[in-house]
Amino acid sequence: MKTIIEPFKIKSVEPIKFTTESDRERILRKASYNPFLIPAEDVLIDLLTDSGTSAMSAKQWAGIMDGDESYAGSKSFFRFEKVIRELTGFKHIIPTHQGRAAEKILFAIAGGKGNYIPNNTHFDTTRANVEYSGAEAVDILTAEGKKPDVIAPFKGNMDVGGLKKFIKEKGAESIPLCFITVTNNSGGGQPVSMGNIREVKKVLKSAGIPLFLDACRFAENAFFIKKREPGYSRRSLVDIAQEMFSYADGCTMSAKKDGLVNMGGFLALNDDNIARQARNLLIVTEGFPTYGGLAGRDLEAIAQGLEEVLEEHYLTYRIRSVEYLGEKLTSAGVPIVQPPGGHAIYIDAKGFAPHIPVHEYPGQAIVCALYLAGGIRSVEIGSVMFGKYDSTGKLVSPSMELVRLAIPRRVYTQSHIDYVAEVVLEVFANRRRLKGLRITEEAPVLRHFTAKFKPVS
Ligand code: F0G
Repeated sequence: MKTIIEPFKIKSVEPIKFTTESDRERILRKASYNPFLIPAEDVLIDLLTDSGTSAMSAKQWAGIMDGDESYAGSKSFFRFEKVIRELTGFKHIIPTHQGRAAEKILFAIAGGKGNYIPNNTHFDTTRANVEYSGAEAVDILTAEGKKPDVIAPFKGNMDVGGLKKFIKEKGAESIPLCFITVTNNSGGGQPVSMGNIREVKKVLKSAGIPLFLDACRFAENAFFIKKREPGYSRRSLVDIAQEMFSYADGCTMSAKKDGLVNMGGFLALNDDNIARQARNLLIVTEGFPTYGGLAGRDLEAIAQGLEEVLEEHYLTYRIRSVEYLGEKLTSAGVPIVQPPGGHAIYIDAKGFAPHIPVHEYPGQAIVCALYLAGGIRSVEIGSVMFGKYDSTGKLVSPSMELVRLAIPRRVYTQSHIDYVAEVVLEVFANRRRLKGLRITEEAPVLRHFTAKFKPVS
């Protein structure tokens, strides 16, 4: 088989700034060893997130010029609505400025005290919006999804038995809706099988509970179904995505991922009553129902992006470039969550730097070392992001200490990925020299964004 190449030519380029190791030492110190505080200009390869960092196509940029900025009834809205309705089959399409705005509106209506919202794994903003409404967010993930070194095709699947048990325990009347996140970002970007979506739907249907998809990475999930699930290899990606949505009653979407845009999202659903309430809230918090929180040009770019994202050559390249990085790291012995997910590689920091105790944040130490060695920005997903203190002030750590290398869509080429692998391997070769960090300043919530650190001497 020949090399899988980037399925695009480059028409417009953005220079990246090279720095020396001593520059980066100074920059890192000034940023208090927190990658969120490093100016993006001082980053060579930015793998902080795949959200809102995609490169748009020439046709999307043409759509930006073509956007209709009318306050009401913009032609760009009707294109946006048509594309999403054809893809999802949902009756009501409600534009929002990003994914969490759709979540906020949905849970303000369907959440509330005494209610439970199950999910394979809630992403942070979904959990936060569920909890803000007074409801409880519950993760019901298949057991293999919690084991980083187990290789299985669909580690994002929901535990169907666990879901049945949960519904019996709490009663269907206290579960206004159930979510499935495709792919499962908080669980390593792992896909969910069509069989699992179908089974979950069956359980929910008999209990009268609607199913919603957190559809941020629906196209990447569809690609994994095509490649890994029996019976789907000859089906088109559009067809597979449509089948995924056909089992759901609605979805929330951050178009900043598989919408291939820098900003945008939507809420889509069939229920007339929820849709009416959602549009009323939308007018107060986002905008008129034919633009939500977006400009007409954004609606055009999203409509175009949603069509491009299901192209076979695009997804083949996309998933391959993540897998390629995963293979390079694995073959050199770097411990990562297996198999590689759709949008990111997750390094297992406890395996990488076992000499650093969790209260000295091994993930953060690796994040800093990757920046120092090669100007690569990544993010810690472990005790810095999710650590809590008990009543005695002792750190309570999550089960895994990870470093996420999220790959922006259509932005980097194979040689950039080769470079990333080289830098990770260099840091891995010198891993015994890595030193832990302590926190010198932190906010009471979401501390990872602003916390300040100092290396342990
Ligand atoms: N759901 C999932 C699964 C996500 O990954 C995100 C965002 C959201 C919802 C919220 O969407 O940012 O448009 O409000 N994830 C980003 C990340 C921030 O880096 O993984 P948003």
